[in-house]
Parts: sequence; C-alpha cells; structure tokens
Amino acid sequence: MNRREIVLAPIVHVLGARPNFVKAAPVIGALRAAGAEQAVIHTGQHYDERMSEVFFTELGLPEPDVNLGVGSGGHAEQTAALLVGLEKEFTSRSPALVIVYGDVNSTIAAALVAAKLRIPVAHVEAGLRSFDMSMPEEVNRRITDQLSALCLVTSPEGIGHLADEGVPVHRAHLVGNPMIDTLLANLGSFDTGRVREAHGLPERYVLATMHRPANVDEPETAAALVRHLHGVADLADLVIPVHPRGRANLLAAGLADHDAVHILEPLGYIDFIAAVRGAAAVVTDSGGLQEETTILGVPCLTVRPNTERPITITHGTNRLVSFEELVPGVRKALESGPVSADRKPPLWDGHAGPRIAEVIMRCLGE
Ligand code: UD1
Repeated sequence: MNRREIVLAPIVHVLGARPNFVKAAPVIGALRAAGAEQAVIHTGQHYDERMSEVFFTELGLPEPDVNLGVGSGGHAEQTAALLVGLEKEFTSRSPALVIVYGDVNSTIAAALVAAKLRIPVAHVEAGLRSFDMSMPEEVNRRITDQLSALCLVTSPEGIGHLADEGVPVHRAHLVGNPMIDTLLANLGSFDTGRVREAHGLPERYVLATMHRPANVDEPETAAALVRHLHGVADLADLVIPVHPRGRANLLAAGLADHDAVHILEPLGYIDFIAAVRGAAAVVTDSGGLQEETTILGVPCLTVRPNTERPITITHGTNRLVSFEELVPGVRKALESGPVSADRKPPLWDGHAGPRIAEVIMRCLGE
C-alpha cells in the first residue's frame, strides 16, 4: 500500500494570522510531495490584503478551501466565532488530522474543536514557553500542546518544557523550524536595494516592528515607547512598518513627529525580509523576527521582559531590552556592526517541512 492510499480523509491545515502563513508553506509543500490529500481553512483572523493575501501569493500557498471570515474582536468574541466556524468545517470534512501553527487565537480554537471531535491534532511550533501567562500567546501554546497528538518542536528546550508539563515523550518530535525553511527558500528574492528604492529608504537604517498588546494597547505605554523610538531615530533612520494593532496609539503619541522616522504600511513577506536583511539593527516585539534575524545575522533588540525563544539569544543575535535599555542597546549594536551567524540553532537548516511531513505521514500510517 503506498502512502496516498493510507490517507483517506484530508489533512486539514488551519491558518489564521500572518505568522501562520510563513510556517505553513514548507509543511504544505512537503506533504504535497509525500502525496497527502490536503485542505486549507483560513479562519480570517487576519484579513487585510497586506496581512494575508500577499503572503499566499508570494509563498505559493494554495487558495484556501474556505475562509471563515471571523475577523477582529475581543478574545472571547473572536475565539467563539472561531470555535463555531471550525466545528462546522471539521464536522463536514472529517479530517484525518488537523495541523495548527504557532500560538494565535486560531491555533487554540482549532485544537480545542478537533480534540472534542476526537480528531488528532498536530501542533507545529510546540513547546515554546515564555512562562508569562499575561501573554495571550502563552495561554494558547500551553493548551494547544496539551490537546495535540503530535507536538512538532522547533527548538530543543521545547522537548523539556513539554516533559515538565506531562506531555508523553512519544508525542514530542524535534523537527526544526519551518519559518526558517521559508526564509532560506526565498533567500535569492530578498533584494534590499529594490526595497530601499521603492520606499525611499536611506542606505543605513534601523528597522522596527511593534505590535504586542503589552507595548501598544495602553496609550501611556505607547507614548513612552514612542519617546524611546525617537531616541533610536536620533542615532539612525528608523523604518517602521506599522501593524494595524497599535497604529492609532503610536501615531497619536507622535511616532511620525521625527524627521528620521519612516512609517510604512505592513509589507509583504519578500519586501519585509529584504528590509530586515538590509537593516543595521532590528528593534521588535515579534516572535518570528527574533528567529529570522538570528539566521540573517542582523542584531535584534527585543523589547520584552522575556522570550519563548531563548535559543535566539544563546545561538543567535537576539537581546532582550527594557524601554530604558533600548537606545543604549541600539547604539552598541550600531557600533559593533553585523553579527556572525555561524552558530545556528540545531535543525534550523531549511528541512523542517520534510521532517514534519515524515512524522505526520508515519503517524497517519499507524
Ligand atoms: C495576532 C496574534 C499574535 C501575533 C500577531 C501577528 C493572537 C492572540 N495574537 O495578534 O500572537 O503575533 O497576530 O500579526 O492571536 N487588524 C486589522 N487587519 C487585520 C488583522 C488585524 O486591522 O488583517 C487589527 C484589528 O484592529 C484587530 C487588531 O489588529 O483588532 C488585532 O488583530 P488580532 O488578530 O486580534 O491580533 P494581532 O494583534 O494581530
């Protein structure tokens, strides 16, 4: 019996938010190569053309079989809409397995619905922990891992975190990082010169992204952040593609009121990573960008008290900073110049997608 005959019902991928798309592309590609039947449910958590569609086009993702259009809302409202929509889809499609990605609200909702319907769940990017339950993502990760039949782990310490939480060892698989598969597969397309020209950017700049609730949701915190970002702009031009979350608060706090601040709309994947690659340093509160800068060798200052990705500090270019440490940190990074990217986290080698496909096909075969 070949593998195609083993998989009778489709594997269903649930994608909702921007970082999910980048992680799913290599997994879908590898499962396609292995002959699996697949369907993609887009929950519609992210819906702006620049937050969603451009990623599907650039990354060669298949057109979603359905878009649930859940949109934005409070956590309860958004998660409730996700639960209702996903239950209908899973019931009518009877998937062999549901694959969820990362730590967004679409991830936990899909895992919960599938687990109640007794459909096995595979969690890509399992085992990451910030140990900070004030982050919605930490809640989402912990619950998703408990509900998952397969925990597909990007970083070795994740295996230990899962064991500490009682996840049986046979469920956890260290497979590497599919976000890095996407980065390495597109390395030839990241043309910094073209992005500089298209957006009128200077030769030397610091790139910033800020969207964590803890940094941008409260007007006073956003205003304090803007003061420190202006301090960075005193050192070098500051390019900031603004995520819709926090846009109003950051602009109201005067983010644009500095000659060296360049505010951009959210960029597509290729232009964004091209801009990151050409940056003298990155300032961020994103999760994925800590990983991408590690592989690109760009110094990364993460404006958070903790990270679920400590391997980007021990094996990469990342450093955690408080608001007060931000300007001195950027100054130091600018003085030190590019960081050697010799020491890479294990299995961040561009082959996580095929490893994930292998684990999944084996599991379905059993
Ligand atoms: C979500 C994830 C976060 C991830 C981020 C990546 C959760 C709990 N959070 O945060 O972990 O780092 O995605 O981008 O799932 N909005 C738009 N257009 C869109 C999407 C959002 O305008 O296409 C605006 C809306 O005002 C919305 C707000 O952004 O209320 C927040 O969107 P939401 O999906 O709730 O969470 P993110 O902050 O994007």
